[in-house]
Amino acid sequence: MTRTQLADPQPAVSERIRRRLEAKIAERGIDPHAPLPEIPEPVPALEAAQQRIPLDYRDAQVEHPDIAAWVRAIADAALPPHTGDLAPHYGTPGRRRVAHGPSLLLWGPTGTGKTHAAYGAIRALTALGCGVVWQATTAADLYAQARPGSGQDPEHLIRQIMRVPVLLLDDLGAAKGSRWTEEITYRLVNWRCQNQLPTLYTSNLPPVRELADSPHQPVLRDELGDRVLSRLSGMCTPIHFTGPDRRYQRR
Ligand SMILES: Nc1ncnc2c1ncn2[C@@H]1O[C@H](COP(=O)(O)OP(=O)(O)O)[C@@H](O)[C@H]1O
Ligand SMILES: [Mg+2]
Repeated sequence: MTRTQLADPQPAVSERIRRRLEAKIAERGIDPHAPLPEIPEPVPALEAAQQRIPLDYRDAQVEHPDIAAWVRAIADAALPPHTGDLAPHYGTPGRRRVAHGPSLLLWGPTGTGKTHAAYGAIRALTALGCGVVWQATTAADLYAQARPGSGQDPEHLIRQIMRVPVLLLDDLGAAKGSRWTEEITYRLVNWRCQNQLPTLYTSNLPPVRELADSPHQPVLRDELGDRVLSRLSGMCTPIHFTGPDRRYQRR
């Protein structure tokens, strides 16, 4: 077989057509030698999650062994897409998604790293490669958004947040409580408990008053009521955070 060796690359168009094209391009003010605009790379799941995590917590890692165990349990229980709970071996190929699992109650004084640890757990879960639809809110923000007259449909908001596959509900028991906030919290916790939806709760308050505690020590049971506390106890592994306020230490 003989090969034709080309001395120079052959022009794709004739000289006359090339000149006409260049004239047209120049007419439109286009510089053919300008560098091409950057095309963003596809954003991996962790990077997408990072955009939604507050700046303070974007490097958060899982440090506590019980939180590491929770992340593993949730990832192991993730189901293939379009699978029901009854037949988890069916479904279509694709990324597994978080479905059901246990919850955590991270409690302890302000600044001990509860929110940091919760975001660390979300980051770790996202990095494991299963699809995680998650949302984070403080209890105070939730009550403010769900208040009639806030401009949103409160019922829609509550139902949507009740069903989020992984929820971080931060600072439970910190907002001034009322019968109304108790009812919202009850509906949310009850739904998530009954459906075993993985939830990261954080609170400055201990769940209950221990014998050694002062009778004036505020506790979640008093702030949220027995019905909520019973469900939290059933669904959560409590993790006690101790130590100094890290925010003061940073100064
Ligand atoms: N393990 C940690 N490593 C580094 N910084 C941390 C860690 N835990 C908490 N922090 C930082 O300390 C500050 C307080 O932590 P945060 O989680 O907000 O406390 P809490 O929710 O208990 O009030 C934040 O700025 C956070 O980024
Ligand atoms: Mg916090």
